[in-house]
Amino acid sequence: MTEPLVVGFETSCDETGVGVVRGQTLLADALATSVGEHERFGGVVPEIASRAHLEAMIPTVHRALAGAGVAASDVDAVAVTAGPGLTGALLVGLAAAKAYALALDVPLYGVNHLAAHVAVDELQHGRLAEPSLALLVSGGHSSLLLVPDLSREVTSLGRTVDDAAGEAFDKVARVLGLPFPGGPPIDRAAREGDPTAIGFPRGLTGPRDAPYDFSFSGLKTAVARWVEARQRAGEPVPVADVAASFQEAVADVLTAKAVRACRDHGVDHLVLGGGVAANSRLRALAEERCAAAGIVLRVPRPGLCTDNGAMVAALGSRLVEAGVEPSAPELGADSSLPI
Ligand code: KG4
Ligand code: ZN
Repeated sequence: MTEPLVVGFETSCDETGVGVVRGQTLLADALATSVGEHERFGGVVPEIASRAHLEAMIPTVHRALAGAGVAASDVDAVAVTAGPGLTGALLVGLAAAKAYALALDVPLYGVNHLAAHVAVDELQHGRLAEPSLALLVSGGHSSLLLVPDLSREVTSLGRTVDDAAGEAFDKVARVLGLPFPGGPPIDRAAREGDPTAIGFPRGLTGPRDAPYDFSFSGLKTAVARWVEARQRAGEPVPVADVAASFQEAVADVLTAKAVRACRDHGVDHLVLGGGVAANSRLRALAEERCAAAGIVLRVPRPGLCTDNGAMVAALGSRLVEAGVEPSAPELGADSSLPI
């Protein structure tokens, strides 16, 4: 029997993603984004994101099927992000996926967005070792997950208590006069800077702090205060040094906590995911520290790290394969869906 053909719908934030996989083989990953429409607000505006999903959805489905070279009648199952994410945005994807599954008379699987970020790595690197640990860092989330069984059991070890890592990149970029989203321009500026120039704080790294939780709000404020003090004194702001020192603080905390979580739980495989996993310093430091600790590091290519439909299809495919019960037709959106 051929492996099942699964279509995945992703609309939790500002990307409209429709992915098609057969088994763990990626056939198509169509994407539309409203990122440009949010730029002048310095962050994603939920109402704008929802409307953009509505407009992009049907053309994106058509592009995905055409790209995969399959017909709607070939589809065996539909998967959709049920949460966490922006409620209005999630509802657009859910409505589309439900209508699609109903029309094709195929099962529907509601999936958790964070677990899907982990599953996507299988499309590039093959079957995930179980257990694995996952570090997911994006504009909406920063989480450490323990993954004993991707299709049935994923648990959260820690998360950010305030800003997500990507949010910190976006806010610091704004302070430095760099464009939104802030991760890529900070990454570029940091290449010319000295990461040891300014000793910015590492949040929640004290002996009595939660070992796997993150905090980036204090770091963001420290950068803003440092820059303001320079501006008040009429001195130029060394953008490259600030970017490199800030980026170093983020990469240091993320990788130190991920490696510690692996060690504490006896896990020797770490997967990175989320938009911030595209950061060059985070990747380099993760490689260095994982190699030193004997941990196998898996990092999907940048296009798979950011939100997309393929990740949802990848997890849906896993659920079909594992014989997990499909979701009920009344499946709803849950903006804070727990893992
Ligand atoms: O996963 P993603 O596309 O969307 C969600 O937020 O779910 O992640 C977007 C975030 C943004 O905050 C962006 O600034 C950040 O990922 N990002 C980066 C880099 N590329 C994107 N952060 C640091 N370095 C990068 N190279
Ligand atoms: Zn995401």
